[in-house]
Amino acid sequence: MLKFTKFVTLLSNYELIPDQMKVTVVGAGNVGATCADVLAQREIANEIVLLDIKEGFAEGKALDIWQTSPINLYDSRTIGSTNDYAKTADSDVVVITSGLPRKPGMSRDDLIATNAGIVKTVTENIVKYSPNAIIVVVSNPLDVMTYCAYLNANTDPNKVFGMAGVLDTARYRAFLASELNVSPKDIQAVLMGGHGDTMVPLPRYTTVGGIPVTELIDEAKLNEIIERTKFGGGEIVKLLGTSAWYAPGAAAAQMVEAIVRDQKRIFPVCAWLQGEYGMKDIYLGVPVVLGKNGIEKIIELQLNDAERALLVESADAVKSVMEVLDNMIANA
Ligand code: LAC
Repeated sequence: MLKFTKFVTLLSNYELIPDQMKVTVVGAGNVGATCADVLAQREIANEIVLLDIKEGFAEGKALDIWQTSPINLYDSRTIGSTNDYAKTADSDVVVITSGLPRKPGMSRDDLIATNAGIVKTVTENIVKYSPNAIIVVVSNPLDVMTYCAYLNANTDPNKVFGMAGVLDTARYRAFLASELNVSPKDIQAVLMGGHGDTMVPLPRYTTVGGIPVTELIDEAKLNEIIERTKFGGGEIVKLLGTSAWYAPGAAAAQMVEAIVRDQKRIFPVCAWLQGEYGMKDIYLGVPVVLGKNGIEKIIELQLNDAERALLVESADAVKSVMEVLDNMIANA
């Protein structure tokens, strides 16, 4: 008997995917479908529900993803749904990607009125069927749409947060890897602030194989890369005529993985601040520990005066768009 129990314990330790993890991705557009595809390919969840408002669209994308399973050898199931939230019931994690993407010449903030209405409806439907779900927001303008989801989710803010820093640091790291001709795997970085042109990449917290980046690159070149990172999303909008999707979708999937596998990963995440960094009642990108409970800890860095000034500037920009949303709600 003892032996059998030991065997079962060993087996359960071996199992990488916790019991029957269910993840919903709302919005089957480019970012949502890419996120679902990465979740499936990497077997991050057993069941992935892709939902969209457009008739048949999510079903078509889900079917196409599922048909890669015999080729790519995985068994996570992706199913599609046209706006039937009953199918999303009891999801452990929900990724919200719904909303219009940017067109050339638009800032993320230009999307606020349309996307706030969409994110509100989506969030209400999600919490109706999955009241305990952790919600990862990807819709733009990111920081304010995360706030919008929080206002409508009626849940702990540590369970409602936004994907931006993982994407923005990925861009920063990719640019550095190209410039230094080294593996992107060896580049670690922290980036804070809003998901907009005021985001704050932090060279003091950027290392290459453990070496401070400032020892490997001159200041002018580093500043050029920082500027390119800030406008990294816009660079792709200009090239494609719409927003990026491979990196945003993969970034959201990486956050989901940290949650469902309780990895306690340290990522920059758009989080609800209650006094951290001297800021209150604002969603802003900060480094956090991400695990099965969502945001398990906000890490407070000892910023110097220049870094802090940039963070305050970014927070002011986010706050002003949050106020636009607050006024829209007050006048509704
Ligand atoms: C970007 C969009 C997804 O940064 O916000 O590409």
